[in-house]
Amino acid sequence: MVAFPAMRLRRLREGEPLRTLIRETKLSATDLIYPIFVTHGRDLREPVAPMPGIYHLSLDHLLAEVTEVADLGIPGVLLFGLPAHKDPLGSEAYDEHGIIQEAIRVIKQAIPNLLVITDVCLCQYTDHGHCGIVDGDRINNDATLELYAQTALSHAEAGADVIAPSGMMDGQVRAVRTALDEHDFKHIPIMAYAAKHASAFYGPFRIAADSAPQYGDRRSYQMDPANGRMALREIQADIDEGADIVMIKPALAYLDVIARARDRFDHPIAAYNVSGEYSLIKAAAANEWINEEEVTLELLTGIRRAGADIVITYHAKDAARWLMDRT
Ligand code: PBG
Repeated sequence: MVAFPAMRLRRLREGEPLRTLIRETKLSATDLIYPIFVTHGRDLREPVAPMPGIYHLSLDHLLAEVTEVADLGIPGVLLFGLPAHKDPLGSEAYDEHGIIQEAIRVIKQAIPNLLVITDVCLCQYTDHGHCGIVDGDRINNDATLELYAQTALSHAEAGADVIAPSGMMDGQVRAVRTALDEHDFKHIPIMAYAAKHASAFYGPFRIAADSAPQYGDRRSYQMDPANGRMALREIQADIDEGADIVMIKPALAYLDVIARARDRFDHPIAAYNVSGEYSLIKAAAANEWINEEEVTLELLTGIRRAGADIVITYHAKDAARWLMDRT
């Protein structure tokens, strides 16, 4: 065994070139996906209060935003929509002229190479704010699957590149895969929100997306934050149903789940660095309590080191700029 004094681990930390050479985890703009909120109306660029730097964008402002994203070398965006109206079945989610469907067309026409990933869920579109059809005091799993399938199809028809079912209904990946395959969209991959936990870190997003449940909570469909083994079963289930990419969400309190999934599965893994994780950093940075750039890059690197190939983050544009300045 080689030990001190023969071994000196500090030798490999002598200067930046050597440190760069042996760095195990690389973080690049090409690992990131940027979430965007789109809304009906014209000339709207409304700040989302708890998420400084994030806006509700009307379609006329969307182009400038996605151009910036593409110019920064970020490969894709994840779209969320604010519908014109909400109803019990979330009908705008699967309307061919819904806000997401229109946004997809705008982006694909202007920047065909930017990946457009769409979240398939109902919570922004239902008046009760749940992710599925409410049946008495339950969320009706199987009836909801049909609406997810319709939503996914309408996104694919509008030109979406990747479909991301996020409602945590059992069988949602299979339902979406079947619908896509039956309609000649066999080539469209599914990024499954596989291990999505019932997290308080979604708080700022629910303000941004106006999607908080009007009663009850999401604990009968989203996962218990305490369950790591169950998270692996969720991921396995989605893989068995045909998921191409599996996602773990949130990221920071679930790095162990990412690491265990990395060991067990060979599918590409995405981690969603969610709204509350972003807001915490923004609030501390606004107070000058932390160095936002260094803290953010350290956290994003940590998510990658845990095993995520892809990081979905509201910090994507900031991070891409910071990384550019460093090279
Ligand atoms: C929709 C959805 C949510 C998020 C992504 N898709 C909210 C939720 O499940 O309540 C959260 C994203 C974030 O907090 O950044 N189901």
